Amino acid sequence: MMNPAKGNTSLLLLSLLLVCPICTSLDTITPDQPLKDGDGQLLLSNQKTFALGFFSPGSSSYRYVGIWYNQITEQTVAWVANRDTPLKDHSGVLSINSKGNLVLHTQNQTTPIWSTNVSFSVSFTNNSMAKLLDIGNLVLVQQDSQRVTWQSFDYPTNTLLPLMKLGLDRRTGLNRFLTSWKSKDDPGIGNHSFRMVPTGYPQVSLYTGQTLLWRMGFWNGVTWSGVPRILSEYFKVSWVNNQDESTFMYSIIPNLPTKVIVKMVVDESGIVERSLWQETTWVEYWFAPQGFCDNYLNCGPNSYCDSHNLVIFECKCFLGFEPKSSRDCMREKQGVSMCNNGEGFVKLAHMKVPDTSIAHADMSLSMKECEQKCLRNCSCMAYASANESEGGIGCLTWHGDLVDTRTFPDLGQDLYIRVDAVVLDDVGSSVVRATTLMISANILVARAITLAINAGNPVAEAIC
Ligand SMILES: *[C@@H]1O[C@H](CO)[C@@H](O)[C@H](O)[C@H]1NC(C)=O
Ligand SMILES: *[C@@H]1O[C@H](CO)[C@@H](O)[C@H](O)[C@H]1NC(C)=O
Ligand SMILES: *[C@@H]1O[C@H](CO)[C@@H](O)[C@H](O)[C@H]1NC(C)=O
Ligand SMILES: *[C@@H]1O[C@H](CO)[C@@H](O)[C@H](O)[C@H]1NC(C)=O
Ligand SMILES: *[C@@H]1O[C@H](CO)[C@@H](O)[C@H](O)[C@H]1NC(C)=O
Ligand SMILES: *[C@@H]1O[C@H](CO)[C@@H](O)[C@H](O)[C@H]1NC(C)=O
Repeated sequence: MMNPAKGNTSLLLLSLLLVCPICTSLDTITPDQPLKDGDGQLLLSNQKTFALGFFSPGSSSYRYVGIWYNQITEQTVAWVANRDTPLKDHSGVLSINSKGNLVLHTQNQTTPIWSTNVSFSVSFTNNSMAKLLDIGNLVLVQQDSQRVTWQSFDYPTNTLLPLMKLGLDRRTGLNRFLTSWKSKDDPGIGNHSFRMVPTGYPQVSLYTGQTLLWRMGFWNGVTWSGVPRILSEYFKVSWVNNQDESTFMYSIIPNLPTKVIVKMVVDESGIVERSLWQETTWVEYWFAPQGFCDNYLNCGPNSYCDSHNLVIFECKCFLGFEPKSSRDCMREKQGVSMCNNGEGFVKLAHMKVPDTSIAHADMSLSMKECEQKCLRNCSCMAYASANESEGGIGCLTWHGDLVDTRTFPDLGQDLYIRVDAVVLDDVGSSVVRATTLMISANILVARAITLAINAGNPVAEAIC
């Protein structure tokens, strides 16, 4: 008769042998089961779509904990934990500590280099585990209740994945935004960010430091106010703006014939780009900012950037305004009242509507009510719809200067500008005066674009 203890030992040995080819991958990190760089271990998601492990970016030898796509040939890191605190060797260990947090430390040192930093009440500290979801989200959960106490999606790096929310949770104050890497070799927090700005009517914008570079704008139910032609057969956008949150996310349309792998990245050079994985490589199919008219405030207040294509453009004053300086426009005929004096609105089609950080929004109004609201208030300079569905829902109004407006060749929104009775009359009888060309050569030179201004023709051609 076989010794039961001996039998168990050989069973254990056998199972170890069987398991060993995959013993470098874990499906959870628990208090008893850390992830060690020295062992070359990976944490895999259930369907093995994403992997979490230690890596060295580019030509760097430093070690970082990151999440990458597990099923494509090019290592593409979508998230990094210790962005600004790399390890210099392979001694890193990612484990659940006695406080219930996921922490990164070295083999011989328990002081964390990085931590999920959740405050648990004592009774929950022995109950945490970490796992990687198939959407690329690393979550810290309570083993008994499966309650998520922390998630990597709340602390984005430079990549927006499908189902990852960008923007502000008004209940907790958490604002999730993308920040560029410092360089291809350094995932540390760089200078470029892509974020939801919740003031006024929320809009999504690209920044370098505190400098606004480009407004993608808001989702108007049909498209982005700053990117009317971003429509894709693969995704849908969920835009939520209420008392709880101002956020958006992309999701991949279900039941597509092929698996779609996409990402949106703010890169080291300050560009936002979207790419699609196609068999062996990432194919970039869109980026911003694109061309002169995209750049924030390249045309001054109360003017708009009229682009014929990526390199030909002009800055024009809105109707009723005239040039004040090389970049700014001011009201013509300062004396003419626009308050209960026969004024009205002219429509500009195919527009990117002005900066909404200074707009007022009322989602309950129709376009007709919006016009009335704006007309009644003498400081109201312009209005547009917040949601282009069903002929326009929701009312955006601007008081004061109209900032960062442009035309699009097609699509775009209707923008209604307040004008006095005389201009309104002229427009009605088609005696519309030519708007004034304003090109500031300084701006262009600063951007290292060669300018050829044709004096007879109010068009500036920029040849790169
Ligand atoms: C860590 O400790 C082990 C044994 O306790 C020792 O052999 C090793 O040199 C230590 N490593 C470092 C980096 O101090
Ligand atoms: C954890 O949070 C505290 C306070 O919220 C903060 O001071 C500390 O820097 C954080 N630690 C880490 C490792 O993020
Ligand atoms: C955590 O500790 C408590 C009390 O010490 C114990 O009852 C419970 O089973 C532990 N939970 C886990 C998941 O180990
Ligand atoms: C970020 O901006 C600062 C200040 O302009 C500059 O010194 C630094 O080199 C920039 N960092 C990167 C990674 O470009
Ligand atoms: C726009 O309005 C439509 C129709 O009422 C609604 O279904 C949609 O959710 C709205 N979209 C946004 C972004 O507000
Ligand atoms: C006009 O609208 C602005 C902004 O909403 C508001 O501050 C101001 O009180 C309004 N004026 C009148 C007369 O209603």
